[in-house]
Amino acid sequence: MLTDAHIHLIDHPLVQHKLTLMRCKDASTHAFRQLLHELSMLMAYEVTRDMPVQHIEIETPLETMQSPVIDGKKLVLVSILRAGSGILDGMLTVVPGARVGHIGLYRDPHTLEAVEYYFKMPPDMQERDVVLVDPMLATGHSAVAAITRVKALNPRSVKFVCLLTCPEGLAEVRKCHPDVHIYTASIDRALNDHGYILPGLGDAGDRIFGTR
Ligand code: URA
Repeated sequence: MLTDAHIHLIDHPLVQHKLTLMRCKDASTHAFRQLLHELSMLMAYEVTRDMPVQHIEIETPLETMQSPVIDGKKLVLVSILRAGSGILDGMLTVVPGARVGHIGLYRDPHTLEAVEYYFKMPPDMQERDVVLVDPMLATGHSAVAAITRVKALNPRSVKFVCLLTCPEGLAEVRKCHPDVHIYTASIDRALNDHGYILPGLGDAGDRIFGTR
């Protein structure tokens, strides 16, 4: 299995338990969305682990102290539409001060290449840390295109969070963007001929939005 210091496998039992429930084909749209929301909060905990803190003076009931806070405004959560929205909601619950960007990409069904149709980011990106979110890192084409677009704005750092990935997708992102840290709850076996992850969980967008 392909692992290195830039690939963070989130193997916490709570994450793995919820992921198992999401994979089941009989999970309802409501259950799938709720589990994704909970999982995203847990993944936010991991991806923000090294976020810088600043100390502010506060008063406890007993005395004054210097205590750490994070500056959520420096963080930009970038959702790769449309399935990224499922992760975005959960992460915003935990980091409500984060800024939000959106990238609209669809996969050309014949070439499986990413085609951009929307791009909107907050201002002053060079002062911000970007966390790109997309539940499925499959071929890696969308992830590479999204990372390339965001990097052109010179953010301080770029991380990528997905629920599931596979060796092919990881290899593609590692090849094109070796500096980007990838956070995932599972590295599945392989991709099929249609670019779906096996065993996977099916089409994440359809399962979040109930569109199939
Ligand atoms: N996108 C999905 O929604 N599922 C996959 O398995 C691969 C890409």
